[in-house]
Amino acid sequence: YAIAHSSTLSQFSYHCQAACPHTHARAGIFHTPHGFVETPRFMPVGTLANVKTVTPAQLKDTGAQMVLANTYHLHLQPGEDVVKRAGGVHRFMGWSQPMLTDSGGFQVFSLSEMRSLSDEGVTFRSPRDGQLIHLTPERSIQIQNALGADVIMAFDECPPPGVGREATEKATQRTYDWLKRCMAAHTRSDQALFGIVQGGEFLDLRSQAVRMLSELDLPGYAIGGVSVGEAPDVIDRVVQATAPLMPHHKPRYLMGVGTYREMARAIAAGIDLFDCVIPTRLARHGAALVRGERWNLKNAKFREDFTPIDETCSCYTCQTFSRAYVSHLLRSQELLGYTLLSIHNITELVAFTQRIRTAIFNGTFHQDFAPWLAPIAPSTS
Ligand code: GUN
Ligand code: ZN
Repeated sequence: YAIAHSSTLSQFSYHCQAACPHTHARAGIFHTPHGFVETPRFMPVGTLANVKTVTPAQLKDTGAQMVLANTYHLHLQPGEDVVKRAGGVHRFMGWSQPMLTDSGGFQVFSLSEMRSLSDEGVTFRSPRDGQLIHLTPERSIQIQNALGADVIMAFDECPPPGVGREATEKATQRTYDWLKRCMAAHTRSDQALFGIVQGGEFLDLRSQAVRMLSELDLPGYAIGGVSVGEAPDVIDRVVQATAPLMPHHKPRYLMGVGTYREMARAIAAGIDLFDCVIPTRLARHGAALVRGERWNLKNAKFREDFTPIDETCSCYTCQTFSRAYVSHLLRSQELLGYTLLSIHNITELVAFTQRIRTAIFNGTFHQDFAPWLAPIAPSTS
């Protein structure tokens, strides 16, 4: 299936290339005006039009194919007009491959002092200068049209966990109403608007949201409202129930998720795309991701360890430097330390999803990744 809208030929298409016979996992390719994304794939986060401490050339070498930036942050600084006059976010940041912007809704809820929330939109105080800012579905899309990423996200309301069914139902309905306003405001055919499935922990609200959103025939769909503080088994239950219901011939994106286990199990449920700040955030704390583990490279045992962080890793850092050297940089708070560790951590998570992709082609995903696919036990709290 190609994503072709009734009349004009779309610049976006998703093709399933291989399907796992034992799970809902699929390997596919998503075409955008700035090239393709081979899925399943992890996307690094470049909030302010940069992946922290990593240049676009270095980023390309990690195997990352699509990068995420944030409407909320870029609106606050430098402002979408500046980015637009620079020629769009790709030109502005020097990244010529696919990009995605998140809509700002989620970031307003989590990062700012909210002033009011109504059917119209949200008003919040800029953490930068205290100025009152009004964000609506229409405004979010205008800003995202100005930024010019390949994929733009619907402006949604992401209810915090534990607010109960009634509040979650209201947010889910509002997210749907806002999606229709986003579609009406969206003007650029070289940008694909993805809808976001909300519904909290309530599986029936999730499946109803999928049904309603599917009818709108958008070029892609995301699961939102997970990884917002709920227990891992709750996230997993939502993803396992929701992902298989989402349109099969469109890309499926799980927002804000990026641990090995969550990704492996979500891929088994049919998810194609992920984003998470984990690899760059961990790097700033001196933690290396190594085949599922987190190592504190500042630990004394690495002071004279002259082997690479991971001898099986093909990244620039592992091909060139020792644990001892990266440990030294991190202990000295040298900026290069964060760059080298971010390069490794991003490469590691992209490679994890790439290995799954290869396994899906080989028909061995179910066996090869069995340790990652074990059910996530409910927490006792
Ligand atoms: N990032 C992580 N979760 C969400 C969500 O629910 N909505 C949006 N817009 N972004 C997210
Ligand atoms: Zn490496």
